Amino acid sequence: MDPKLGRMVTSLLAYLLLLEGGMFSPSPPPSGLLERVFQFIDLHQNEFVQILKEWVAVESDSVQPVPHLRQELVRMMALAADKLRCLGASVDSVDTGFQQLPDGQTLPIPPIILAELGNDPKKPTVCFYGHLDVQPARQEDGWLTDPYTLTEVDGKLYGRGATDNKGPVLAWINAVSAFRALEEDLPVNIKFIIEGMEEAGSVALEELVRKEKDRFFSSVDYIVISDNLWINQGKPALTYGTRGNSYFRVEVKCRDQDFHSGTFGGILHEPMADLVALLGSLVDSSGHILIPGIYDQVAPLTEEERKMYKAIDLDLEEYRHSSHVKKFLFDTKEEILMHLWRYPSLSIHGIEGAFDEPGAKTVIPGRVIGKFSIRLVPHMNTSVVEKQVKQHLEHIFSKRNSSNQMTVSMTLGLQPWMANIKDNQYLAAKRAIKTVFGTEPDMTRDGSTIPIARIFQDIIQKSVMMLPLGAVDDGEHSQNEKINRWNYIEGSKLFAAFFLEMAKLRLQ
Ligand SMILES: *[C@@H]1O[C@H](CO)[C@@H](O)[C@H](O)[C@H]1NC(C)=O
Ligand SMILES: *[C@@H]1O[C@H](CO)[C@@H](O)[C@H](O)[C@H]1NC(C)=O
Ligand SMILES: [Zn+2]
Repeated sequence: MDPKLGRMVTSLLAYLLLLEGGMFSPSPPPSGLLERVFQFIDLHQNEFVQILKEWVAVESDSVQPVPHLRQELVRMMALAADKLRCLGASVDSVDTGFQQLPDGQTLPIPPIILAELGNDPKKPTVCFYGHLDVQPARQEDGWLTDPYTLTEVDGKLYGRGATDNKGPVLAWINAVSAFRALEEDLPVNIKFIIEGMEEAGSVALEELVRKEKDRFFSSVDYIVISDNLWINQGKPALTYGTRGNSYFRVEVKCRDQDFHSGTFGGILHEPMADLVALLGSLVDSSGHILIPGIYDQVAPLTEEERKMYKAIDLDLEEYRHSSHVKKFLFDTKEEILMHLWRYPSLSIHGIEGAFDEPGAKTVIPGRVIGKFSIRLVPHMNTSVVEKQVKQHLEHIFSKRNSSNQMTVSMTLGLQPWMANIKDNQYLAAKRAIKTVFGTEPDMTRDGSTIPIARIFQDIIQKSVMMLPLGAVDDGEHSQNEKINRWNYIEGSKLFAAFFLEMAKLRLQ
C-alpha cells in the first residue's frame, strides 16, 4: 500500500476507535468565544510583543546585589502592578522588607505582587505564579544583540528574561486581557503571585505564602507555574514533577595546616586518601548509588508510567550531540529520561582544600572537604537519606582505621515534588494543548530542583501544575536568551483555552 494512504487509513481507524471507545472523546471544535479570543490574540500580537519589549528593557537583575539594580527591580514590579490594575485586577504590592547580605550590606527586597480578578464562588480560582527578575546579562558575555533590547530575528525574540520568565507572565496577562477587551466574562477567577527575587533564591516568598495561606490563598483551587521549558522545539509539554536535592559535605581532618610530603609522607593517615576512598564508595561506574537502602523508598515504576516515557518526543542523538558527550550511561530514550526524572542520582562536585592549581606542589593537605549531592525522587525523604548517607560514610571510614576526624553534614535538604496528573487542571491543560497545538503534550518532569512547586503544594495543599511555553533551545540563564514569537503568541492562546477548559470541567 502507498505509505501515505496507509497513514491515512491508520489515522482514520484511530479516529473511529476513539469515537467508538468513548474513553478519549476527540476535543470539541473551538467554541465561538474561543475563536474570537484566538483572533483577538493574533490581531494584537505586535502589541503583545511591544509590551514584552518594554518589560525586557528593565534590567531587573536580582542576582548582583547592587542598589541601582534593586531600583530597577522595584520599577519592574511597579510596571507589572500597573498593568494588572489596567486589566481591572485588585493589586497588593506587598513589602517584604530587606535582604541581609553576607558582607553586612542590606538591600530592599522588591515587593511581591498579589493580585486578583474575579471572585465568583461558582468558578474555580486559578493562581498563576511567575517572576520578573532575571539573571545578569552583558553584551560582552557573547550576546549578539543588546540583552535589554528585545530584538526579533527570524521569529525569535532575543532578550534577557524573554523566556525566563517575563514572556510567560505576559502570556497569562495577554490571555486575560483578550477576555477583558472582548468584554467577555472571565471563565475562571484569576489570582497572581509575582515575585522579583526568584533568581536569588526566592527570598521572602515562602514566608509570605505561609502568612497568606488563610487569606489570599484560601480561595485558590489550582496553582500554575510556567517557568520551565519544553523538552524539544515544537511539541508542548506538561510538567508534573521535579527532583529534590540533598547536599552533603564530608570533612576529613588531620590538622588545620598542610604538610610537606617529604617530611611527613609515609607516616600519616592522609586526609585526602581517606576522602577519595569515601567519595569513591558512593556510586559505581554504572551510576548506581552504593549507599545501602537508598533505593528502598523510590516509587516503583508502573506500566502506565512506562507508557508515558515511550510517548515522549526526544531526539536522543541530537541531545547527545549538542551536549558534546560521546556516550551516556543508557542507550534508550526511556532509560535516559527515567534516570533524569524518576530515579535518584549522586554527583560528586568538588573538594575544598585540595591542591588544584597547575604545577607540582608536594603538599599533603591537612584538612579537606568533599562535596556531593543526591537528586531525590518520590518517595524519598531527606531525613531518611541523611541518616543513610551518614551511616554509610561512617562504616567506610571505620574500615580504614584512620586516626583522622571525619564530619558529615547535610547542608541542604529539598524534597522532590510530584503532582497528580489525573487532576482537573492537568486534564484541562491537555485539552487546551490539543486545541491550540493539535497534539498531546509530552508529559515531563524536571531532573533539577525547583523548590517553589513543593512549597506551594506543602503550604497551600492544592494542585500545582507546570505549564511551560518556551522551546528547549530558549537558552534561559544563558547568552542570547529568546522566546519564539510563535511560542509567545500561541502560549497566550493556550492560557486562554485553558481558562475555558477549566470552566467546562467545573460544569461537568
Ligand atoms: C521523613 O521521615 C521522617 C523520619 O522517618 C518522618 O518523621 C517525616 O515525617 C518524613 N517526612 C516526609 C516529608 O515524609
Ligand atoms: C584495621 O584494624 C583491624 C584490627 O586492628 C585489622 O584487622 C584491619 O586489617 C585493619 N584494616 C586496615 C584497612 O588497615
Ligand atoms: Zn525562571
